[in-house]
Amino acid sequence: MPLEYFLFGLITFLLTGVECEETEVFVEAGSQAVLPCKGSPSSSVIPEIIWTKANKGTVWRKDRSGLQYWGSSWTSNGVRRVQCPHSRFERKDFSLQINNVRTEDGGGYSCRVMHGDLITERLIMLRVIKVSLSSPMPLWGSDASISCDVTPWPRGASLQWTLNDRTFDPQSGSDTDQRVVREKATVRLTGIWTCVVGFRGREGRASAALNVKGIIHPSTDGTKLYAAVGSAVSLPCVFSSGLTPSDPVWEKLKPGFIFKPSPGRLPASFSPSSSSSQPLSDKSASLTEVEVGDEGRYRCSGTLDGQQLTRNMQLVVAKIISSPPTKTSVTLTCDLTDSSEVTDYEWVQLISDLNGSQSVQSVQKGISLSINTMSEESQGEWACLFYGKHGILGNVTYHIHTMSALSGHTSPGSSQNTAAVVGLGFLLLVLLLILAQVYKNHQRRKRIFQFPALETIVHTNSNEREERERNQEKK
Ligand SMILES: *[C@@H]1O[C@H](CO)[C@@H](O)[C@H](O)[C@H]1NC(C)=O
Ligand SMILES: *[C@@H]1O[C@H](CO)[C@@H](O)[C@H](O)[C@H]1NC(C)=O
Repeated sequence: MPLEYFLFGLITFLLTGVECEETEVFVEAGSQAVLPCKGSPSSSVIPEIIWTKANKGTVWRKDRSGLQYWGSSWTSNGVRRVQCPHSRFERKDFSLQINNVRTEDGGGYSCRVMHGDLITERLIMLRVIKVSLSSPMPLWGSDASISCDVTPWPRGASLQWTLNDRTFDPQSGSDTDQRVVREKATVRLTGIWTCVVGFRGREGRASAALNVKGIIHPSTDGTKLYAAVGSAVSLPCVFSSGLTPSDPVWEKLKPGFIFKPSPGRLPASFSPSSSSSQPLSDKSASLTEVEVGDEGRYRCSGTLDGQQLTRNMQLVVAKIISSPPTKTSVTLTCDLTDSSEVTDYEWVQLISDLNGSQSVQSVQKGISLSINTMSEESQGEWACLFYGKHGILGNVTYHIHTMSALSGHTSPGSSQNTAAVVGLGFLLLVLLLILAQVYKNHQRRKRIFQFPALETIVHTNSNEREERERNQEKK
């Protein structure tokens, strides 16, 4: 009995060779799978190779004579999806390549290499990963789902989602089935979705691109736009590229109605940009000159596929308040109609050099700044920069005319200009005097022309009088 067992065992060993454990191969649907299989390197005999798929029969076979056979299901329209490159045979590499892998290709494979009576068999488990989308371009606000399928699914495998290479934690938090992500479509979902499956130290991944249709800029409702009084500001409203929304409308919403906003009047300087260079998907508008009263909520809307999409945004207007107006100093305060997002203020002085280029010099942090108006260094332009969590939000500028500049003290930078102005003024004064003289002369001559006889009479009279006086003196 033991001998029979031994013989049976020996035969089984010779038939099946050294059985390695099943090799796991993960591959993304549509790509090429390579199922590894190596023959014994020591053998010099030309081996016979058979690749089979569990429950599907032969995939590919090569006789000792070199003849090859392909399973019928692997050929469609004369194109074979499987091959075993000859070039590798010398290295005893009989790996099977499957092109354009399909979900149904997943499953167990066996590679048997027969060197005469010595049979080596390798088992490979091919797992095909595929990411499917409910729609590659869902409309904003619709339900979107992204699912990850692995065929066959490995029990106990881990699954993780990344969106644009960042780990994505589904908000719908159903831990029971991580394979499907269900979300309301927003711009947040736009990008490359990758499903990463880990199993027995191996990792497989598959990706799909999702592009949510709608207003992509601003990407969220309630986005704040910052503008200084008197400046221009763009009100962005950009739809996904290639889309042409119908009935685009801009509205300014009356304050006070958060849940049921009603449209009010658009500002005087509102300009619906409709330049021909602007793509049809860009419905941005602008205010050419912002006033304090322009602050508030704006809404842009457009219709896509019969569904109206809207985006609300808030315009925050910034200005500088100066107080108190004493003779020697002034306090400037940065004033925003909504400062809830502002984390920092910084005051800078804008210094223009002779070349006309401007440099910025940081002066201090804080919402207010006190400036000595007697100092000529304070002369010029000042700006308050305001920052949020993610960097600068905007700035607002203010012009200072110092006392010293008004009372005639001049800084070296402006001395040339002042000299020129004084010189020009003097020249003008002289010219004016000359003109006045010329005019006076002209007037006199005109008078003389009008009364030539009168002048002769006056003249004769005075001459006679003078002569009489002279004669009297002689006596
Ligand atoms: C003005 O420009 C010249 C050359 O561009 C440069 O050498 C010079 O330093 C500049 N002057 C100032 C005050 O910046
Ligand atoms: C202020 O904002 C305007 C417009 O965004 C920008 O061109 C300018 O450089 C800013 N000024 C400073 C000092 O940052």
